[in-house]
Amino acid sequence: MKQIHYQNFIINHYQELESTNSLALQMIKNNSIHHNQIILADLQNSGRGRMGRNWASPQGNLYFSLVLKSQKSINQISQISFLAAVSAGLAIAEFGDEKKINYKWPNDILIDGKKTVGILLEKDADFVVVGIGVNINSHPEQTSYPAYNLENSGFVVDKETLLKKFLDHFSDLYQKWQNFGFVPIRNLWLSKAYNLGKEINVNLPNESLKGVFKNLDADGNLILQIGDKARIIASGEVFN
Ligand code: BTN
Repeated sequence: MKQIHYQNFIINHYQELESTNSLALQMIKNNSIHHNQIILADLQNSGRGRMGRNWASPQGNLYFSLVLKSQKSINQISQISFLAAVSAGLAIAEFGDEKKINYKWPNDILIDGKKTVGILLEKDADFVVVGIGVNINSHPEQTSYPAYNLENSGFVVDKETLLKKFLDHFSDLYQKWQNFGFVPIRNLWLSKAYNLGKEINVNLPNESLKGVFKNLDADGNLILQIGDKARIIASGEVFN
């Protein structure tokens, strides 16, 4: 392991791990990790995605977990995933055509309409682990939502610079979030929201809904218009 200091962050860089999120959670339990510390791995053997899925993690892509200490309430914690998505979007925009970038609710980034970045937020005690995977030069086939990678779409990316740009944007937005709340983050996210105003399908644990993606509410929940009723959705999966 190699330790790198960057701005207010400490990056623990490993060649290979099971999962950066798993190590971060374990270190929280052992009291051996701090606010603004990052676990970075060149590859993961058991990368984890949302809904218990795996996250394909061969060498070449970016896999890291940012650890934050936060006493905020749970709805505010979920806002951190939007903060992370927007920070990653702004960082990626520095390497290619920003018009190709869209945010998909709740916290994916699409490039050319296909999933290229995934975010997994996990919580333990006062800590939040923000796990981020960015497909830089490869992506898996046969995923539940079509996947893609940055290089295929013409982005020319240096992995270490991408991480540093992410951290720059994250610091800036985190400060804004502390000072002004969710509004500035929400606006940035909405400015590139995928299928906003269009019909989408949302899968919940026990039902599937079809409706128009109207807006995000003040906490980041999805507002789905079904006929003349609006449904507020706190978690689920969106398909086209
Ligand atoms: C998703 O399902 O969209 C979330 C994917 C999150 C993947 C990242 S890669 C770094 C971190 N460590 C993990 O095991 N998962 C997250």
